Amino acid sequence: MPMAIFDVPLARLRERGSIKWRRFDADVLPLFVAEMDADLAAPIAERLQRAIALGDTGYPEVPEYQAAMADFAGWMWGWDLDPAHAKLATDVMTGMREAVVAASEPGDAIVLNPPIYPPFRAISAGRRTVEVPLVDDRLDLARLEVAFAVERPSVYLLCSPHNPNGTIHTLEELTAVADLAARYGVTVIADEIHAPLAGAAHTPYLTVPGAANAYLVTSASKSWNLAALKAGLVIGAPADLARLSPTMSDGASYFGVLAHTAALREGRDWLAGAREEIAANKVFLAEEIARKLPQLSYTPSEGTYLAWLDCTPLGLADPGAHFHEVGRVRFNLGREFAPETTQFVRINTATSQAILGEAVDRMVRSLGA
Ligand SMILES: Cc1ncc(COP(=O)(O)O)c(C=O)c1O
Repeated sequence: MPMAIFDVPLARLRERGSIKWRRFDADVLPLFVAEMDADLAAPIAERLQRAIALGDTGYPEVPEYQAAMADFAGWMWGWDLDPAHAKLATDVMTGMREAVVAASEPGDAIVLNPPIYPPFRAISAGRRTVEVPLVDDRLDLARLEVAFAVERPSVYLLCSPHNPNGTIHTLEELTAVADLAARYGVTVIADEIHAPLAGAAHTPYLTVPGAANAYLVTSASKSWNLAALKAGLVIGAPADLARLSPTMSDGASYFGVLAHTAALREGRDWLAGAREEIAANKVFLAEEIARKLPQLSYTPSEGTYLAWLDCTPLGLADPGAHFHEVGRVRFNLGREFAPETTQFVRINTATSQAILGEAVDRMVRSLGA
């Protein structure tokens, strides 16, 4: 199969106006924020173009996105999801924040697992965050139980698959989480935005035996690169959905609904191609690092297109800042995900191997090698 999806020429990428291409100076190669260096999947582009041609630029009405997600979930995970159990949200983080508001009171404890996608801390504002760090990139179930028992949190924020390190939680781990949540009366709020790309290796939290008292928040945004087209879903039992603010859906756009629906229904071949290329890119990155930066080692993660790289052996005070300032290549800085992970960088592999190779070369050159 030709490596096509992520082979967008750098000159064309630099014409983009999104964060990835505008935040830093034009000589900095950007591999930070989770945007893909891909053209829009053809069925999504065609759907939007059809709406533009019709002047069909109004408000969303019918719940076609919910139906498309249910169809996708049945096809991908064998999950018999009732579309009526999904509610439209502006985007995933809005849905997560509204679920936090619905399931907890100011001052309540909220458990999260650092290193973690930074907005998880922001949506916990006004609550007391209890940190249960991952150990060897996996959930620490023993410490999770201690946190539930001692801190009596109302909410546990689960990132599944986990950002930044791409861990896919196993059915056994998720079953243990559901058991602990039931035992200690904790609402689980699961962010599954990276799940479509993870494929069948992922287990939707609401399909886990014993999982109740939970919200699952998702969208097609990460897997099909649709951040500009706002539309997320919060999935849960009707009684739990009824507790969510009625304004939660207001910011979702009709174009978002159209794009996410087209992705879930007609973007499945594109998704399979993207998965293959990302898997190959992670192997390529691991090989480049082994060859050119043998002090470091990267083992491809199972989920997400993000690579979480420990740069401790380089002996730099702040590796991410060094690569940016000296190497002119920008990754996400480890400290964004946890105060302790200053020695890590998060590398976006949803790009071409030419750009990944150039990124590693810039890291090498920054070291004066
Ligand atoms: C785990 C996770 N959740 C949420 C988001 C953002 O989603 P949205 O733009 O729909 O709020 C991201 C973006 O990278 C993410 O990685």
